[in-house]
Amino acid sequence: MYILGMESSCDETSAAIVEYSNGKFEIRSNIVASQIETHRLYGGVVPEIASRAHIEAVSSITSEALDVAGITLSDVDLIAVTTHPGLIGALLVGVNFAKSLAFANNIPLVSVNHINGHVSAAYLCENDLKAPFLSLVVSGGHTSIYVCQKEGELCEIATTRDDAAGEAFDKIGRVIGLPYPGGAALDKLAYEGDSKAIKLPSPALQGTMDFSFSGIKTAALNYINSSNQKGEEVNRANLAASYTRTIVEAIAKQTAAALQSTKMKTLVLAGGVAANSHLRASLARLCESMNVRFVVPPISLCGDNGAMIAAAGYFEYLYGRFADTSLNASALD
Ligand code: KG4
Ligand code: ZN
Repeated sequence: MYILGMESSCDETSAAIVEYSNGKFEIRSNIVASQIETHRLYGGVVPEIASRAHIEAVSSITSEALDVAGITLSDVDLIAVTTHPGLIGALLVGVNFAKSLAFANNIPLVSVNHINGHVSAAYLCENDLKAPFLSLVVSGGHTSIYVCQKEGELCEIATTRDDAAGEAFDKIGRVIGLPYPGGAALDKLAYEGDSKAIKLPSPALQGTMDFSFSGIKTAALNYINSSNQKGEEVNRANLAASYTRTIVEAIAKQTAAALQSTKMKTLVLAGGVAANSHLRASLARLCESMNVRFVVPPISLCGDNGAMIAAAGYFEYLYGRFADTSLNASALD
């Protein structure tokens, strides 16, 4: 069967065709129209601009996804669309477009939770992946650990009490003058510095498996401000390296605790921050030492994309959870 996956929850408009046959997912096309260059001018995502850019892109990227896959709308068996969480105006563009397309062409429609979408990217790269597994989702808006007992169903066992890891990377990236979003640039810069140079508080909350990123963000900002006041130049590479090491160590520590307490033998890493090379290396080492299978999508499937939504949509279809014309978007989880 052919699944059209649609994603518009933040600053990427994406449409993909994923084929499911003989127990395997195959990506036939995965078109992503990124708005990053537009939002870079403002140092972050401007919701109104994001909604308008989705409207401009959604129709043409859907046609492109069909063309690249070599199929037409009449071949599509299922439409899967992200309905929550995310920016409400941005989500509404994808939801209304998908609804119109589904009902005008008599194609079944399913609603997909964006986080479920990120986790489902793993099925696109490892065909034999099966629940149960533990999943760590690290993105611009989320830092949570879930138990997945059944395909497409996540049970949160740990989360951040305040900001997300991606937000923490982006914030400090912006302050030290890196282009938005700072995560990827900070990842590279961290290789040039001394990761032990600056002592920062751990985002791993003592005695829990939860996170808090507000402390490390404030400590890094204080470090930058006091250096500026003393007329000292901030060693950006040392800050990037120390900040990254502290965050990665905290994520690895809480993940190890979650693996230990749940006894899960597979870890799925997902979300935009899963592209971080230091995090990937650290979790790969952790899993090896704990004899746990480590599943992480290629970088191209870590950020927001329609293919992951199509994969998550397949499980909604299996459970028979179809949407109708009353389908709506929601900003919340
Ligand atoms: O999943 P995603 O594309 O959007 C949300 O659902 O939030 O994640 C975007 C986040 C941004 O904060 C971005 O800076 C971060 O992923 N990111 C990275 C890297 N590449 C993207 N963070 C750290 N290292 C990277 N290499
Ligand atoms: Zn995302």
